[in-house]
Amino acid sequence: MEPIFFVHLTDIHINAPGKNNPMFGIDMTAKLRAVFAEIRTLRTKPAFAIISGDLTQDGDLADYVHLKQVLDEEAAATGIPIHVGLGNHDFRAPFREGFLGEEPSEQSYYYSFMERGLRIVMLNTQVPGTHDGRLDEHQLAWLADTLSEPAPEGTIVVLHHPVTPTPSALMDSYLLQNPTDLASAILGKNVIGLLSGHIHFHNIGSLNGIVSAAATGVAFGLDPMATVTMRFVDNSGYNLVTVKNGRMAVQPTYLPGEHKLLYEWDPAKHPAHA
Ligand SMILES: [Fe+2]
Ligand SMILES: [Fe+2]
Repeated sequence: MEPIFFVHLTDIHINAPGKNNPMFGIDMTAKLRAVFAEIRTLRTKPAFAIISGDLTQDGDLADYVHLKQVLDEEAAATGIPIHVGLGNHDFRAPFREGFLGEEPSEQSYYYSFMERGLRIVMLNTQVPGTHDGRLDEHQLAWLADTLSEPAPEGTIVVLHHPVTPTPSALMDSYLLQNPTDLASAILGKNVIGLLSGHIHFHNIGSLNGIVSAAATGVAFGLDPMATVTMRFVDNSGYNLVTVKNGRMAVQPTYLPGEHKLLYEWDPAKHPAHA
């Protein structure tokens, strides 16, 4: 079996052109395009790309229309399909209308696809109206049902909110709120790895012995070692993922850059974060 190689991007926080971007004036579209430009230079072409949520900053219809256009262009230029999931900055109805071309609805968005015997499950951990991450009973039941049929190369589960702890106390509330429910649903089902985002830095741990890798944001990063403040950093990166003989390997990657500090938020001084 030839190894399966793909790229995992997250937290692209894109906005439609011409909007006032509240995040430090960064051109998120340019940052996304820079990542795909680098992916096109890789000596091994990935089979596909996944983006694990926070597709947009504001979640407006125009943002999703713009996102669709950009991702269609990048998928064509790179020659690979791009699969997306939703994060806490996303809104389901404008996503369904602007990106999927469907009737707008608040229906949760989760699905799976196969690549040469490897199953990828894209979950939706959003709790609408909040920034919290949680898997509800319906989705957990769907996941258990999906995993009941074995995939020859195993399954990788993708979710916006991570399941492993980080150095930062501020990030504790950013984690999935019911990791034990997820652990129960995937127990003994040949899940070979978990991929996520949301925390905006590379962080690798495990859930009941299953490796779990969160990636830094494409749009911007956070300093993982700032444990009582949030230091927003101008970097960009993604994960290179290989599946070989039914096992997953992850290489966290940063694009070249200065990793310049953009902004430092101290919750002790300014409790209401803009
Ligand atoms: Fe994010
Ligand atoms: Fe997020």
